[in-house]
Amino acid sequence: AGPHPKVRANPSGRPLPAQGRRMMRHFLNLSDAGPDGIAAILADARDRKAARKGWAKGRPDADAPLTGRTLAMIFEKNSTRTRVSFDMAMRQLGGDAMFMAAGQMQLGRGETVADTSRVLSRMVDGIVIRTDDHAKVEDMAAHASVPVINGLTDLSHPCQIVADLLTLIEHDKPLPGLNVAWLGDGNNVLSSIIEAAGLMKFNVRAGCPQGYEPDQAFVDAARAAGSTIGIFGDAAEAVRDADVVVTDTWVSMGQEHVHNKLAAMAPYQVNERLMARAKPDAKFLHCLPAHRGEEATDAVLDGPQSLIWDEAENRIHAQKSILLWCFGLIG
Ligand code: CP
Ligand code: NVA
Repeated sequence: AGPHPKVRANPSGRPLPAQGRRMMRHFLNLSDAGPDGIAAILADARDRKAARKGWAKGRPDADAPLTGRTLAMIFEKNSTRTRVSFDMAMRQLGGDAMFMAAGQMQLGRGETVADTSRVLSRMVDGIVIRTDDHAKVEDMAAHASVPVINGLTDLSHPCQIVADLLTLIEHDKPLPGLNVAWLGDGNNVLSSIIEAAGLMKFNVRAGCPQGYEPDQAFVDAARAAGSTIGIFGDAAEAVRDADVVVTDTWVSMGQEHVHNKLAAMAPYQVNERLMARAKPDAKFLHCLPAHRGEEATDAVLDGPQSLIWDEAENRIHAQKSILLWCFGLIG
C-alpha cells in the first residue's frame, strides 16, 4: 500500500516540518490545536483506525510516517493507558518511544526542567510529560526545540479528551450541540472537556459538590466561545437531557491527602438510577482507572450504555494523530 493519502509524505531522515518552525507545535492544551487542528486529528484518527482494522497491534501503518523518530515519555505519576498508548502509537507510526520514570532521571535529583528539556531536544524528536504542576509542562515546552505533549497535569488532560471525542463520533454522537453531563470532581479531565466544548461547539452540565467546581478560566473561555456550561449542585439536574454522561475518580493522583471528599462526592455516583434520568440513548464514558462502586457502579461501567473499552482503545488512535499534528504532518 502507498502512503496514507491525507498525510504529507515524510521519507525517513528528512526534517519534519515542525522542526523548521519558529513556533513549535506543542500540545499542552486542546486550544493549542484549535478547532481545525482537533478536527484534523479526529479525521486522521478515524482513517488510520479503519485502515488497520484486523492488523496485529504492533504492525506499522502502511505509510509509517514517523520512521526514524523517537519519543521520550517522562512520567512523574503512574500511568497504564497514556504510557502504553503513546508507546504503541509510536510503533504503529514506524517510530520508537522510551519510557522514563521522572524519579529515576536527574530531574528527580534537582536538574531543572529547562535543562532537561534542552538536553532531550538534542537527543529525541518529541517529549510527552505527565506531571503535577502544569507550569512544569509549560517550562518544558518553553525550552524545547521539539514538540512537547501534556500527558496529564493537575490542570488538564487534553490527550484523553481527543480519545473521548473520537469515541463519541464513532458512536453516532456528532459533537456540535451535544449535551455532555459530568458528575463528581471538577478535575483536570473536566477542564479539558470544557475546553473541548468551546472549541467543538457542545455544551457541558457539570454536577459537582460545592468546593469542587471546575476551573473558572476554562469555564469562562468555553462560554466566551458560545458554549453553555452549567454547574449544578444537584446530580439529577446535571444529567437532564444528557447525550453523554461522564465521570472520573473522586480522588485524583496527588490528592490523596484531601479529607472528607468521598462523603461530599457520594450523591454524584453514576448508577442506573441516575443514568435513567439522561436521554434513553445516552452513552457513558470514564477515562479510567475506575474506582468501582465509588464514582460509578459496576452496572453502569459494564452496562449497555458504557463505551469505556472503546474509549480506552481509542487512546492509541488519538495519540497517533496528536503526534502527527505536533510534527506538522496533518492539520
Ligand atoms: N486515562 C488515563 O490517562 O489513564 P492512565 O492514568 O492509565 O494513563
Ligand atoms: N483525574 C485523574 C485522571 C487519571 C487518568 C487523575 O488526575 O488522577
